[in-house]
Amino acid sequence: MKNITAVILAAGLGTRMKTDTPKVMHPVGSGTVLGRVISGLKKAGVREIIAVVGYKAELIESSFKDDARFVRQRQLLGSGDALKCALGSVAKTSDTVLVTCGDAPLISEATYRSIIKTHHDKKAGCTLLACRLDDPASYGRIVRGKNGDVIKIVEEKDASGEENSINEVNVGTYCFDKDAAEKYIYDIEPNKKKKEFYLTDIVDIFARNGKPVASVTCAPEEAIGINTRKDLAIVNKIANRNKIEELMESGVTVIDPDATYVDDTAAVGKDTIIFPGTVIEGDVKIGSMCRIGPFARIRPGTVLEDGVVVGNFVEVCRTKIGSDTRVKHHTYLGDAVLGRGVNIGAGTITANYDGKEKHRTVIEDGVSVGVGVIFIAPIKIGKGATIGAGSVITRNKDVPPGATVAGVPARPLDAKK
Ligand code: UD1
Ligand code: CA
Repeated sequence: MKNITAVILAAGLGTRMKTDTPKVMHPVGSGTVLGRVISGLKKAGVREIIAVVGYKAELIESSFKDDARFVRQRQLLGSGDALKCALGSVAKTSDTVLVTCGDAPLISEATYRSIIKTHHDKKAGCTLLACRLDDPASYGRIVRGKNGDVIKIVEEKDASGEENSINEVNVGTYCFDKDAAEKYIYDIEPNKKKKEFYLTDIVDIFARNGKPVASVTCAPEEAIGINTRKDLAIVNKIANRNKIEELMESGVTVIDPDATYVDDTAAVGKDTIIFPGTVIEGDVKIGSMCRIGPFARIRPGTVLEDGVVVGNFVEVCRTKIGSDTRVKHHTYLGDAVLGRGVNIGAGTITANYDGKEKHRTVIEDGVSVGVGVIFIAPIKIGKGATIGAGSVITRNKDVPPGATVAGVPARPLDAKK
């Protein structure tokens, strides 16, 4: 979508979070609130993304330097002022500006597409994302005229009794005709109570100037803007549940969705069973017919081929495990490559970090590892080798294929005789 530039409003302090971290940098799964907003826009096909930053701008800019351009809002004068700061940087080729809040990470790709489509189909000056909530508290209310057209948005603090009872609310995502937005943004006056420039006031200005205002409605869950820690917990729960439902629909068994955490970026194959207490983080790829958990932690950069068993209290990080390999109890595997049909005994550890650098452990097909083995990386264990219980395999002392070694440090069993 070449003619669209998205502007993410993310300069706010997050006062209600009571935090020293910018609100948009708080975690959703193993990512961040803003990371999710950016990936949602990208999935919807938006290429040009500008984030308006202010509070601790450097932190946000360095975290997302490859994903967005940045504009600084020097003084936090409100959402209207934030958009004003960004408009001058919108790509010349864009005639439409999609504005969204950096604290609303659950808006789906389909909803972004729908607001853009409606905006173009209806040739609107402005298109709002609306939603109906049982409890509209803290959201701007959408006021419609007799013919149903949107007239204005009223913030809760400024709403009259009757307006307060409106349950159709402003999600904070809008499409604007760029030229009209550039013109009318300067007509917003500071809010009388808060002295801030409210972007929401531009809707009334569009309507009064005869520019059509359209709207699109989304599901209540998508509308959640994170203002408090409680909102953050609700968003994490929903994001996780959405992912787990997607996995279940694709043929994965999740025994207890409420006690399982899977990041949006993870992929899991058919007929894999995930037991309770399991946490799957980041870009993990798990094949089919695997058994994961209970209480397993699968960290980013991990690939499990089909039929792998990762059992209780096992942590796996940046590791590839070949098909039908079993790692069933109390183990840490980091920066390792395991072949097929390997068996790892309980309590086995890869010592991958020497205090300065991380090193690889390679365990080839069919290796049998006893309980309580420590692999001090870098190390390679050849195909079909056997490692005795309690052994320490010291760095660079590679074990040849088919050998049997044991002891501290491990030596070929024959040599012990
Ligand atoms: C805003 C809307 C409200 C809507 C709600 C949806 C306004 C005036 N109100 O209220 O109608 O129902 O979102 O969640 O817009 N920001 C800046 N610079 C500023 C102020 C804010 O970049 O000077 C950013 C914030 O970082 C945030 C977004 O704008 O991501 C919205 O600001 P916030 O204070 O959260 O507005 P709400 O009170 O939630
Ligand atoms: Ca908000």
